[in-house]
Amino acid sequence: MCGITGFTGKESALPFLLQGLERLEYRGYDSAGITLVDHEKMTTYKAKGKLADLKKIIDPEACPQCAGIGHTRWATHGVPSQLNAHPHSNADSTISLVHNGIIENYQKIKKDLLARGYVFRSETDSEVVVHLLDSWYRRLNGDMEEALRHTVRELEGSFALCIVTTYIPDKVFVAKKESPMVIGRTADSSFCGSDATALIAYTKEVLVLEDGQIAVLSADGIKVTDFDGNPAEQAWISIPYDIEAAQKGGYDSYMMKEIHEQPRAVRETLRGRLSPEGKILMPELDQLPVRWNELKRIYFIACGTAYHACIYAKTLLQKAVHVTCIAEPASEFRYEEPVLDRDTLCIFVSQSGETADTLAAVKLAKAEGAHTFAVTNVLGSSLARAADATVYTCAGPEIAVASTKAYTTQLVLLACIDIRLSELLGGRMPDKERIITDLNNLPAVLDRTLDMEPMMERLAVLLQDQRDAYFIGRQLDYPTALEGALKLKEISYIHADAYYAGELKHGPIALIEKDTVVMALATQAEIAAKTFSNIQETIARGARVIIITGPDIPVSGFENVLRLPEIAPQLIDIPAAVLLQQFAYFAAVNKGCDIDQPRNLAKSVTVE
Ligand code: F6R
Repeated sequence: MCGITGFTGKESALPFLLQGLERLEYRGYDSAGITLVDHEKMTTYKAKGKLADLKKIIDPEACPQCAGIGHTRWATHGVPSQLNAHPHSNADSTISLVHNGIIENYQKIKKDLLARGYVFRSETDSEVVVHLLDSWYRRLNGDMEEALRHTVRELEGSFALCIVTTYIPDKVFVAKKESPMVIGRTADSSFCGSDATALIAYTKEVLVLEDGQIAVLSADGIKVTDFDGNPAEQAWISIPYDIEAAQKGGYDSYMMKEIHEQPRAVRETLRGRLSPEGKILMPELDQLPVRWNELKRIYFIACGTAYHACIYAKTLLQKAVHVTCIAEPASEFRYEEPVLDRDTLCIFVSQSGETADTLAAVKLAKAEGAHTFAVTNVLGSSLARAADATVYTCAGPEIAVASTKAYTTQLVLLACIDIRLSELLGGRMPDKERIITDLNNLPAVLDRTLDMEPMMERLAVLLQDQRDAYFIGRQLDYPTALEGALKLKEISYIHADAYYAGELKHGPIALIEKDTVVMALATQAEIAAKTFSNIQETIARGARVIIITGPDIPVSGFENVLRLPEIAPQLIDIPAAVLLQQFAYFAAVNKGCDIDQPRNLAKSVTVE
C-alpha cells in the first residue's frame, strides 16, 4: 500500500526520495508527493496518478534542499486527488508530514482542532496529525521531539509518520506504530523508507523501527527513543538480497521475472531444511513449548494467495494427523470466535509480514494463549516479530503485485512444516520418504515446467473474447484452482471462479456455455477419474477445457492436455501453480493490461 521515503544529509534529498518511491511503486498507489525543506522555505509537489506525473511538475534545479520526505498514496479516506495526496502541511507551511496507516480517532481529533480554528484542506485522516503536531509544537514552545511524543500518544490506529520542518530543517522525524518503517545511513546521510527496497541502492544495513518508537534522523546520526522519550536499543540487520534482486533483469515485467525465479527461490527456501539422512529440519517448530501429545487443533491463517497456501497445508496435514486442521482467512478469523488455548497452534502465512488482518489475528491468538508460528518472506517484518517463532521463505523481494514465487515457496515450506508436524504429533504422512526426495528434485521439475511456457501462451488465446473462466479441482488441486482463478482475475480482469470439481453440477454449471474456458486440475491419481467425469459434463455444454494432469494418469479423448513432470502427488500442485501463473500472465498481456501494478490492488495490505 502507501510508500514512504525520507532523507537528510549533505547531498540533495531529491534523488533518494524519488528512487525510493520508484522502488516502492510495486506496493500500489494512486497519487504521489514530496516535500523538500531548508531554513527559508518548504517546497511541496503533489500529483494524482503515477510518479511520472509527479516528476513532470518537479523542477530539480529549484530543489537543492538536503532534507525531505516522499509518499505514494493508496486511497483509504478520500478519493485519489492532488488535494488528498501526501505530504500534508500546517497552515503556515512550517511542518510537513507523510503517513501510512489509519488514524482511527481522526474524527474526534479533527472536531477538537476545528473548534480551535484549524482549517483542513483534504478529506484524509492523515491531515489531523500535522495540525495536532502544530498545536503541540506551539504549546510546548518549539520542542519538536516532545511535541511529536504528545501527538503520537493521542493517536489511535496504525501509523508510520515521517516529518520535516523549517524550524529544524536538517532533521527528519519518524514515528511508528503497526505500520512498517526501516531506517538506514551512510557516512553523511540518514534515510528511511516503508520497506527495505527503498534503501537497498544506498545500504544493506538497516534498522527496523519497533512499534512505539520515534527516530530523529540527521546527517551525522540516528537517535531512537520510545514514545516516552527513553533511549531505545538499535538492532541493525543486514538485508539478505542485493539491488539486482529488486530490478527487472531483462524481463518485460517483474511478474515474469519472478515466475522464472521460482526454481532458485525454492532451492533457497529448502536450504538447511533437508538433512543428508532424508529428514526435515525445522528447529524453530521443535523449540515451541507445545505439549504435542495434548495439542487439539492447528489453524493455518492468512489472506489472499497466502490463504490458498494455507488450504493446501491443512489438506495435506489432515491426511497425516488426528488433530483438527483448519484453514481460515485472517479477515474472518477474529469474528469466528475461534477456540484458542495452549493446546492450539496457529500458523500464520504472509509474504510481506505486514498484512493488517494477519497481524490482528496473531495478536488475538497470542492474547488468548495459543502458540503462534509464522511463515513469511520478510526479515524483521511485523509478523516475524509478533509470532513465537518464524521460518522464512527465501524467495527474495517480490515486487509484482500478483504473488508468484512467494506462493510456491510458501507451499514448499508448508509441506516441510506439515511433515515435521506429523512426526511431532505421532501421525503418518503418506509417502513421506518420496515427498522428501522429491523436494530435492523440485527445482529441476520447476525448470522443466517453465519450458512449457509456449503452450501456456498459446492456450491463453482461448480467453481472448471471454469474460469468464472457471477453474476446478479436488483435494490438493482445489487451492491451486483458487490460486489460478485469483491470478487470472487480478491481472487480466477476466472474471474467474474456482470450484471443487464435484460442486460444479450443484449450481455453477448453469454458467457454462459454448466456448467458456474451464481449467481443470486433475493431478491426484486416486480421484482424477471423478474430475474427468466433471470435465465431460462441461464439454457437453460447449466448454473449451484445458486439463493439467500428472505424467501417468490415463487421459484420452480431450483436446488440451498438459502433463506435468514426474513428482510426488503431494508436490505436483507446485509446478501446476506455475502453469496457471503463466496462463494468467499471457491472458493479461493479450489484453494489454499493466502486469505489475493491476488496478485497485496494493502489494502489502496494511489496512483491515
Ligand atoms: C495476490 C496477492 C494477495 C496477497 C495477500 C496477502 O496475488 O498477492 O492476495 O497474497 O494480500 O499478502 P501477504 O502474503 O503479504 O500477507
